[in-house]
Amino acid sequence: MKQVLALVFAFYINTVAGQHLLYIPDTLSGTTFNLTVHRDSLQFFPGKITQTLGVNSHKYLAPTLIFRKGDSISITVNNNIGDTTTMHWHGLHVAPANDGGPFSMIMDGMSWNPQFVVRNNAATYWYHPHMMMKTAEQAIKGDAGMIIIRDEAEAALTLPRTYSIDDIPLIIQSVEFNTFNQFMPTGMVDSIVLVNGTDSPYVHAPAQIVRMRLLNASGERTFNFGFTANRSFSVIANDNGLLQSPVAATRIRLSPGERAELLIDLTGMNGQIIQLKSYASELPMGIQGGPTMPMPSWSPPMNSPLNGIDFNVLQINVGPQTTSPVTAIPTTLVPDTPYLEANANATRFINMTADSMMVMDGPFYFNHNLFDMMRIDYRIPLNNTEIWTLMDSTMVAHPFHIHDVHFYILDRNGLPPSPVECGRKDVVLVQSMETVRVIAKFEDFADTTIPYMYHCHILMHEDDGMMGQFVVTSEASGTSNVIKNSGFSIFPNPAQQAVHIVNTTSPEKTIIKIVDELGRVIYESSFEQSTTIPVEHWASGIYFVFLANEQQMTTQKIIINR
Ligand code: C2O
Ligand code: CU
Ligand code: CU
Repeated sequence: MKQVLALVFAFYINTVAGQHLLYIPDTLSGTTFNLTVHRDSLQFFPGKITQTLGVNSHKYLAPTLIFRKGDSISITVNNNIGDTTTMHWHGLHVAPANDGGPFSMIMDGMSWNPQFVVRNNAATYWYHPHMMMKTAEQAIKGDAGMIIIRDEAEAALTLPRTYSIDDIPLIIQSVEFNTFNQFMPTGMVDSIVLVNGTDSPYVHAPAQIVRMRLLNASGERTFNFGFTANRSFSVIANDNGLLQSPVAATRIRLSPGERAELLIDLTGMNGQIIQLKSYASELPMGIQGGPTMPMPSWSPPMNSPLNGIDFNVLQINVGPQTTSPVTAIPTTLVPDTPYLEANANATRFINMTADSMMVMDGPFYFNHNLFDMMRIDYRIPLNNTEIWTLMDSTMVAHPFHIHDVHFYILDRNGLPPSPVECGRKDVVLVQSMETVRVIAKFEDFADTTIPYMYHCHILMHEDDGMMGQFVVTSEASGTSNVIKNSGFSIFPNPAQQAVHIVNTTSPEKTIIKIVDELGRVIYESSFEQSTTIPVEHWASGIYFVFLANEQQMTTQKIIINR
């Protein structure tokens, strides 16, 4: 009887209490993209309206960008959020100047125009800001979107690819709201799961083979996805491309930043309902989202009620077939040749550390160092093939992410990775006391002026400084890729009393803004030929000088040092 009641109750919750039709972001495709990030608000819950960030017409989240491999694209990012930001193309192999890392700041009211050739293989990628100490705040408030890359190899396969019909984008985020219905981007009590910004979502899917693109865009939570009744599915792609052949699975674990594409066969299920769930009870302790240590009753709530339990992520209402359904899962996908360990010509060792073994919420470090914008951690010769050994000496698992390249996992504690993890990746979850070796090749882009980042993709760990930076250097070969060379000279640097800025091209009205490391605007003015800025009262530290006129736009670093 008890069980029946529980079942009835579960049914009531699932079907009556506030289920919402899954929101599907619209798409932008072509070669020219215009993105305006703005402040907005959305009624997530009854009562107070929630302050959000959105892109273009979206009040929360961003349009899905569809890129074709080989296309030369140009993206204009307009910043209208009332704060400094950046925009990073997560997983894309682009030059540092186009990567949108912490150095490519876009001041409020300004825009940024990266241009690059799409070189990545077909897969699911994403975009989000990368502003120093503000990534969590800006991404969780809604400044994030999906990128779908298509290419010829993928197009040659019989796969579902009708967006929102049999190819469903799922941006999954666990979030915390305070009692005034506002986002708590760094909160640990992330008890609401949003899919494409929809709370308690359901989606209609046809009774045939359906593709789902899963992106874990959460600040910290790892999901252990599966379907009700342990229904089997096929994983066809991970972070950076299609696998060589589909891998049958009943679970796929995704930590923050990771993506996967699944095929699920719903043939003959018209009228039925299944759930995409996170089987978080099966995660080991130490992974954020898994079971937690019991806390004394007097301590304030530190953990989300979702930790360590199985919960629904998305309800799937199966409906009639479409007119031209995909009816079979291909047996092979796209050939790929992982980099060979024998070809590696350098190794790096990254130890994930904390002040003590008891630390659960940071700060965490790489090799005992906090991120420092003035320190280049690695100088990597162009075309190096490198093995990075990632060791987690803390109590919690960290999703390690690197910009510029994709990598292959060589081993986890000496054992080969699972078949799902065998393809091209750009995030790997490293568990407490685990050692993971990955191999990557640093091709195409050398630039010693703007670094690439590597960091933990738990956004609060990243914002707290669990990040490092590298430059790729080239002597003779390789493409140097500073998009616009600066026509300004700034001196002396480091400065003590004053900074002089001279426009070395033709004089014209130039806007100047100087911001500190936190993105606060310290100085704002304009000049034509040259200007002198007294800085003797400024705190020692790093500042960014942002210069823009009709001809060019640049951000340069200066140091005030006395
Ligand atoms: Cu998803 Cu450094 O980024
Ligand atoms: Cu990235
Ligand atoms: Cu971390």
